[in-house]
Amino acid sequence: MSCHVLLAAGDDGESDAATARSPVRLDHDSSDSEAQRFSPLFSPRATSSTFSEEIDSSVGDESDRDELASLSSLNSPAPSVYSLTESLIQASFRKEFGRDVQNHSEVYHLPADVPEFERLNKQHMMLTWVVGKYPAPLMDVLEDEPQGPQKAVLDLGCGTGAWLGDIAADFPHVDAVGVDLVPPQLTYVPPNVRMEVDDINLGLEHFYGQFDVVNARLISAGIKDYAGLIDQMSRILRPHGLVILSECDFRVYNEDMEPFSLTAPPAATTSAAAASEPPAVARYIGHMRKCIRARGGHVDAASLLHRWVSQHRSFTDVVYRDIYFPLSPFARGDSHEMRRQRKIGFLARDDSLAFMESARPLVLKGGVPEEEADNLLVAARSELMEGRLPCYMRMQCVYARKRT
Ligand SMILES: C[S@@+](CC[C@H](N)C(=O)[O-])C[C@H]1O[C@@H](n2cnc3c(N)ncnc32)[C@H](O)[C@@H]1O
Repeated sequence: MSCHVLLAAGDDGESDAATARSPVRLDHDSSDSEAQRFSPLFSPRATSSTFSEEIDSSVGDESDRDELASLSSLNSPAPSVYSLTESLIQASFRKEFGRDVQNHSEVYHLPADVPEFERLNKQHMMLTWVVGKYPAPLMDVLEDEPQGPQKAVLDLGCGTGAWLGDIAADFPHVDAVGVDLVPPQLTYVPPNVRMEVDDINLGLEHFYGQFDVVNARLISAGIKDYAGLIDQMSRILRPHGLVILSECDFRVYNEDMEPFSLTAPPAATTSAAAASEPPAVARYIGHMRKCIRARGGHVDAASLLHRWVSQHRSFTDVVYRDIYFPLSPFARGDSHEMRRQRKIGFLARDDSLAFMESARPLVLKGGVPEEEADNLLVAARSELMEGRLPCYMRMQCVYARKRT
C-alpha cells in the first residue's frame, strides 16, 4: 500500500516549539530494508532526545543523516510520499485479543484494523444523518477567493479520512489535511488531500496560523488535555476561521434523556429486580468509559466543549447542539421524523454492535473479566436486535468562529 505519511520528529525540549516539532519529510518510495532503518522514527516522539540525536541512533550512513537532518528543518504542512511497507506496519501495530491495536499512543485503545475502519466509514454515514454534513458557516469560510491565500482544512483524528474525503470532493480548491495515529485508509487519495501520522497529544505548534477550518470528531478517548487542544485549535485557525467539535460522552441515556444509573444493583434474585437493572448496553459502555478514563482519555470532554469554547477569548459566534440519537430502530409512527429516527436507529445499531466489539481489547486490558465482558456483549446484542428498548447516545457539537 502506498500512502502519504508525514513522520514526526523527536521533540527538542530546549528549542523553539514550532521548529522542534517539524515532521520528517520522506519523498521517496522505500524498500523494505530502508523502512527498517527509518522505522524508529515511525513512533511517538521521544521527549528527552533531540531530533538529531534520534537520527544519529537510527541511521547508519552519513549521507542519510545529512539528508534527514536537512529535511527536519521543513515546516509542516508539506507534502510527502512514503511507501508503507510490511515492516513499518509490523512496527506500528500489535495484536490484542484478536484485534490490531496501534503502538503509538498509550491513551487511545480502539483497534486500527479492517473491521474498525469499516465501522468508521458506516458511522460517518450515520453521523451525516444525525448532525448533517457541515455546519452552515463552513460554506462561507471555504468560499474560493482567488486573490487570497489557498483555503485549508485540518481534520484532527481523521480516522479513515471519510469526512476529509467529502471536504476534498465538495471543495476541490481547498487543501485538506488529516492527522491520525494510524495511516489513512482512503482507497483513493484525492490530489488535494494529505494525511499525517502523528499523536495530537504531542502538540500542534507546526500548524499554527495555517488553516481556515479545524474539525475534530469523536477523538476524546485519545486526548489527554482537551481544553488545551481547543486552545491550540484557536492558534491553528486563521482570523475568522471555523472550529467544529463533536463528541459523545460514553453514556447510554433512557427515554427521559437521563443517563442509566450504573451503581451496582442488588443481586437480581427476582424478575422485578432483574427488570430494574440497567441494560447490558449501558453497562458495557459504562465499562468502556471507566477504561478510557483510566488510560488518560477525556471522557467528559463532550459535556465541557460548550463551556470551553464559549469561555475562550479567541472564539465568537458559538453555536451548541445537543443531540440524542436512538441506538436501535424502536421509533414508531409514519411521520417524516419517526422514519428518520428509525433509519438512524438501524445505522446506530450496527455501529454500536461493532463499536462494542471493537472495545473488547480496551475493556479486557482494563481489567473487566472476559466472561463478564462477553456475557454483556451477548445480552447487549439481544437488547439492540430486539429493538424495543428505548436507549440513546448523546452527541454534543459546538462550532465557533475565530475573532480577527
Ligand atoms: C472514533 S475514531 C473517529 C474518526 C473520525 N474523526 C470520524 O469521525 O470518523 C477516533 C480517531 O481518532 C484517532 N485519535 C485518537 N487519539 C488520537 C491522538 N492522540 N492523535 C491522533 N489521532 C488520534 C484514532 O486513531 C481514531 O482514528
